[in-house]
Amino acid sequence: MKKIDIGKSGLEASEIVLGCMRIDKMSVEELSSYVDVAMSEGITIFDHADIYGKGYCEEIFGKMLASRVGLRDKVQIQSKCSIRDGYYDFSKEYILNSVDKSLQRLKTDYLDLFILHRPDTLMEPKEVAEAFDILQSSGKVRNFGVSNFKSMQIELLKSCVKQPIIVNQMQFSIMHSGMVNSGIQANTLFEGSVDHDGSILEYCRLKNITLQTWSPFQYGFFEGIFIDNDKFPQLNTVLERIATEKGVSKSAIVVAWILRHPAKMQTIVGTTNKDRLKDICTASNIELSRAQWYEIYRAAGNRLP
Ligand SMILES: NC(=O)c1ccc[n+]([C@@H]2O[C@H](COP(=O)([O-])OP(=O)(O)OC[C@H]3O[C@@H](n4cnc5c(N)ncnc54)[C@H](OP(=O)(O)O)[C@@H]3O)[C@@H](O)[C@H]2O)c1
Repeated sequence: MKKIDIGKSGLEASEIVLGCMRIDKMSVEELSSYVDVAMSEGITIFDHADIYGKGYCEEIFGKMLASRVGLRDKVQIQSKCSIRDGYYDFSKEYILNSVDKSLQRLKTDYLDLFILHRPDTLMEPKEVAEAFDILQSSGKVRNFGVSNFKSMQIELLKSCVKQPIIVNQMQFSIMHSGMVNSGIQANTLFEGSVDHDGSILEYCRLKNITLQTWSPFQYGFFEGIFIDNDKFPQLNTVLERIATEKGVSKSAIVVAWILRHPAKMQTIVGTTNKDRLKDICTASNIELSRAQWYEIYRAAGNRLP
């Protein structure tokens, strides 16, 4: 598994991240053996949020960590906060409280990376800065990032926050490709030319912010999986052919398509199935050609001018 120096910060982690949003159905023993599989495939980093399973995903991960002496030093853990019941909250009090609760549930005394989950338009950047200073000086958080942020929202945050913002988590996949569409269709009146996120791809590349892309297999906003889905026959035909040429599965090609981008993104995968995870991890060993990358992009229904 290839590694990435996240945000050029010195935090080296696997390019495939294991998302822990769906682990709430596992027992501690099942999770323990799942983490073993992930680590044997080269995965080093695990993505959490305070809201996953209403805290239960962190809790079960914490129980698993506590049951295995020495494991904490071998993995990297990131978690997020801000999504509350019907609103977003970047207040200092909420951020500090939420990190404390995540640490308690995860049974660890630090997060490798703490991420603001979704932008709170009522944010006071100074308050966030105070919270980050306390989290850093107390040793509770080693690195900071954001999620679902537009470029100017990151700039606004950076006007007060002194710690580097090393990641931005964004939904991105073959079927959710807005980040590249607006650039590819620049200077046209095609639908895809509309830039929704302030040139976030180019911004993150320029500022050394690693894009952590979430939900690589979903289309829409959690509408379902596009692999082997009758709604997307052309895409599945092309994926199948390229997968056969490369000797891997369609799932691996889906992830390889993201990893091929020179922005050096990480992909957060959410499978809870060991065989599928092993299969997906083969993506790190293959490299799609430019022609293959664009063919898959077109097969997903995207126009080139
Ligand atoms: N920052 C944010 O706002 C944000 C939002 C959403 C998610 N995330 C992060 O991103 C991670 C991944 O999200 P996700 O779980 O929606 O992503 P995903 O990897 O696209 O989806 C995984 C789900 O798809 C199922 N699946 C069915 N067929 C599959 C196939 N052929 N290949 C792969 N998966 C297949 C999996 O089932 P099986 O378990 O049976 O394999 C699992 O339920 C989350 O765990 C979370 O950490 C972040």
